[in-house]
Amino acid sequence: MSAAMEVVGVATAQRTGKMAKGVAVHIEGVTKVYETRQGDEILALERTDLTIEPSEFVAVVGPSGCGKSTLLGLIAGLIPATSGRILLDGAEVTRPHPQTGVVFQSDLLLQWRTVTENILLPIEIKRRHTADYLPRVEQLLEQVGLQGFDSKYPTELSGGMRQRVAICRALVQQPGLLLMDEPFGALDALTREQMIMDLQAMWLSAGNTVLFITHGIEEAIFLADRVIVMSPRPGRVDLSLKIDIERPRRWKDHIDPRFVDYVAQVRKIFEAKGVLTER
Ligand SMILES: Nc1ncnc2c1ncn2[C@@H]1O[C@H](COP(=O)(O)OP(=O)(O)OP(=O)(O)O)[C@@H](O)[C@H]1O
Ligand SMILES: [Mg+2]
Repeated sequence: MSAAMEVVGVATAQRTGKMAKGVAVHIEGVTKVYETRQGDEILALERTDLTIEPSEFVAVVGPSGCGKSTLLGLIAGLIPATSGRILLDGAEVTRPHPQTGVVFQSDLLLQWRTVTENILLPIEIKRRHTADYLPRVEQLLEQVGLQGFDSKYPTELSGGMRQRVAICRALVQQPGLLLMDEPFGALDALTREQMIMDLQAMWLSAGNTVLFITHGIEEAIFLADRVIVMSPRPGRVDLSLKIDIERPRRWKDHIDPRFVDYVAQVRKIFEAKGVLTER
């Protein structure tokens, strides 16, 4: 079976719910207030309610500073909520969940470790046998086009390659929930396009739940089942837009009239909020 056929087959299985092994996320009345060192309070996230279905791909778009990374940090169990609660498969998040993989805004690779050693870090932290995961590492590297790079060091890689390694590190433990914070923000246009296509293929075969944060309206619409639009600080969910375009999506779908209409809907909200203005 060709890779393309496999992806189509998986997409069908997913729609019929056969592959659902993603984690369900429930965000209930969550707010976040940071206290600055001067003792001031900053409301970063207004009361937020959001449900993400198992195996759903949700993208969050919003202007800089609107609380996107805060939301991700809360779900990841890395920062405590000021009020409300977050449930993963019904269990309240109080610390990082073993089923969660995170790709941060910068790659955060350890310079003194090889590509393989970086990818195996979450396995080591869980004190599992790293040798058991070597075939998985090989498979992931092949999936992202980095076969043969296993014993290189991060300094020997380009920015795009490093970000791919960071994605492999988040995927090595086959997380039921993948949280990605602007993972392609620092990439050139061509690498970004390739990574968007690779991410779609990986998600279609893995069937995990994904929360993907981005500044890019088109990137969000292309990848997601649902796009959440956040308003400027204090962050709040302004719109939840279901994207009804069949999968696997192809790059030419960018000119599909439905796609163009979704882009216009999101831009309209940003224009109304003064985030985007015609000059
Ligand atoms: N540790 C912190 N202490 C105080 N304020 C913070 C802290 N982290 C974030 N903030 C503030 O909370 C708000 C939301 O920040 P956050 O990083 O979540 O935004 P963002 O949407 O991810 O922005 P960007 O798109 O630029 O990454 C900002 O006003 C920021 O200054
Ligand atoms: Mg951020």
